Amino acid sequence: MGSAIITAEGLGKKFVLQAQRERYTALRDVLGKKARNLLGGGGGQASTNEFWALKDLSFTVQEGDRVGIVGRNGAGKSTLLKVLSRIVDPTEGRVEINGRLASLLEVGTGFHPELSGRENIFLNGSILGMSRAEIRARFDEIVAFAEVERFLDTPVKRYSSGMYVRLAFAVAAHLEPEILIVDEVLAVGDAEFQRKCIGKMKEVSSGGRTVLFVSHNMAAVQNLCNTAMYLSHGQLVSQGPTDQVVAEYLRAADGSNGSELASRNDRQGNGAIRFTQLALCDGQGRSIAAAQTGADLRMDLHFSAGHGPLRNLHVAMGIDDVYGQRILHLSNETTGQIFDVADGSSRVSIHMPRCPLLPGSYGFTLFSTVNGEMADYLLNAGTFHVESGDYFGTGRLPAGDQGSFITDHRFTLS
Ligand SMILES: Nc1ncnc2c1ncn2[C@@H]1O[C@H](COP(=O)(O)OP(=O)(O)OP(=O)(O)O)[C@@H](O)[C@H]1O
Ligand SMILES: [Mg+2]
Repeated sequence: MGSAIITAEGLGKKFVLQAQRERYTALRDVLGKKARNLLGGGGGQASTNEFWALKDLSFTVQEGDRVGIVGRNGAGKSTLLKVLSRIVDPTEGRVEINGRLASLLEVGTGFHPELSGRENIFLNGSILGMSRAEIRARFDEIVAFAEVERFLDTPVKRYSSGMYVRLAFAVAAHLEPEILIVDEVLAVGDAEFQRKCIGKMKEVSSGGRTVLFVSHNMAAVQNLCNTAMYLSHGQLVSQGPTDQVVAEYLRAADGSNGSELASRNDRQGNGAIRFTQLALCDGQGRSIAAAQTGADLRMDLHFSAGHGPLRNLHVAMGIDDVYGQRILHLSNETTGQIFDVADGSSRVSIHMPRCPLLPGSYGFTLFSTVNGEMADYLLNAGTFHVESGDYFGTGRLPAGDQGSFITDHRFTLS
């Protein structure tokens, strides 16, 4: 431990968003840009289609640290990893990296689809600056870890997403980088592979190498990382011991419960309605920051809609565990309660008696149709938190680390 292996100072990344109606706005945009340029770059008058994905980020990572990077969807986590991996140039600031870095970002980066698994291992190794002899020395271990022996000479474009990620992870982790950067790819693998990856990352870091790991899986982050960074809206909210940072992140996520939904621009559908917020209430309708196991729960989905009645409003909420596994799908189609909605409605509530979810954080996805057409679809809309509670009224709490659910049950002895 001791010396800084990554130093970032005043990092910023600005994206210029594509205008939605290209044809219509092109000329005005061009003129606008010209005018701004004439005014000397237009300091201070931010254009509406510019967007800072990272802003004013300064931090250091010590050699040998295992750093978890957490934050809501769109916080800038992946952008930060891309900047550190030099796939994306920062708009402002600078990064200094004192080591050979291997990164595993979205599925697909780094691999050439037409080349075989075997060829990709050599290609990646040489990109990392390794000699053929060094790569050959690690080759068998990589193939065994990835469990792709039979498909070594198949072009990777024919691999399943699971195989692809296994191989990509194996290459990144075994080619002895001094810094290993991993972005959430574990969500794609099965539980067994996830365990293997976490184990491998621990091994890599126990050899003194540095790991940066982005994940929405707080259990995995807490298991692996000794330190964490919490990003929000492209800025660093906190950095420190993992448990503290994760707790802060979960508190903040609880407090807002996806109230940023209204401003999300990664949604699909015709917009007949748009979800704006998930708010949690107890059985008496009082607002609560987190649900509680065994307590009546009401989940209010606030939405905005244009004028006119909504015919056949179908709303569905998918709930995922920390591994991204769908564990519940709640839909008013299944309950047989499709609504026709008069003007002025703004909320659909899901009533869940005796919440069966065990303590932990859960992700949710929202989907709706109006009159049979997709109205609003928000994948990974946000997270909410469940606190422990006395499900049976026995004064004993269900074990929170055993599965995702509790349900009514009793024991008999014969
Ligand atoms: N190439 C791009 N052009 C425009 N905007 C972008 C681009 N890449 C990312 N963004 C935007 O930058 C913001 C940060 O994105 P980023 O992918 O870094 O978030 P994230 O924290 O990784 O989110 P998630 O948890 O969903 O993976 C988002 O609002 C995203 O829409
Ligand atoms: Mg990301």
